[in-house]
Amino acid sequence: KKRAPLPVDILAAKGGTPLVSLTAYTTPMAQMMDDHCDFVLVGDSVGMVLHGLPSTLGVTMEMMIMHGQAVARGLKSAMMVIDMPFGSYEESPEQAFRNAARLMRETHAGAVKLEGGVAMAETIAFLVARGIPVMAHIGLTPQSVNTLGGYKVQGRGNEGAVALIADAQAVADAGAFGVVLEKVPETLANDITKTIDIPTIGIGASAGCDGQILVVDDMLGLFTAFKAKFVKRYAHLGDEAEQAIAAYAAEVRARTFPAPEHIFADEAPKT
Ligand code: KIV
Ligand code: NA
Repeated sequence: KKRAPLPVDILAAKGGTPLVSLTAYTTPMAQMMDDHCDFVLVGDSVGMVLHGLPSTLGVTMEMMIMHGQAVARGLKSAMMVIDMPFGSYEESPEQAFRNAARLMRETHAGAVKLEGGVAMAETIAFLVARGIPVMAHIGLTPQSVNTLGGYKVQGRGNEGAVALIADAQAVADAGAFGVVLEKVPETLANDITKTIDIPTIGIGASAGCDGQILVVDDMLGLFTAFKAKFVKRYAHLGDEAEQAIAAYAAEVRARTFPAPEHIFADEAPKT
């Protein structure tokens, strides 16, 4: 079996075969994608996808660690990246280091991801200089939903584009080994991909990015509270699950489940 890529391998994939990644939050899902993904992200989307939170702002270090440990148990050949949750890194480079080190120590993730461009460049450089590989995340950064004013496409207009290019350049210069571009216009995503020398990982960006990522529950149709335009549903497992649950409920009420094959017969009398 191939060894899991390291952040340097991800960096070296710039401009090559597109990098494949998905989020995961549990061991079985991690096992299913291990042979198919270059890296797996333990995203703070876990708060919305599995815990019913209204945004990612309520996600804690403890939640990330618990899901990170579960995902790590399911991975052998994909690298694991773990999100730093809201409030765990923005205050100072020192705070970021303390929490990033804890995430890596307790989950054995190969890298952390944090949201922010120019504003987080100093923190990214601080972490990288101290042994923590960092993936950046710019464009639509869901932890900033309250200042962005919603989950809108980012980098629109000349000013928006200039600011986003500056963010991308800043995180690349700071030593990030990759950058997620979320919900940005295609041409801008392509321009950024050509301009910076680290891989761009698109989500709602462009097929021209150096890689793609999706939330696994979105692409499997397991999370159905809403669907972003950039989500392609490759399956409809949520519908299938509900049908299965409805069939079970009907059979229990009709006493057709359990059937003989699910039942332990009386012991045969001894002769
Ligand atoms: O938390 C998450 O799932 C993410 C990806 C969508 C990039 O940050
Ligand atoms: Na995230």
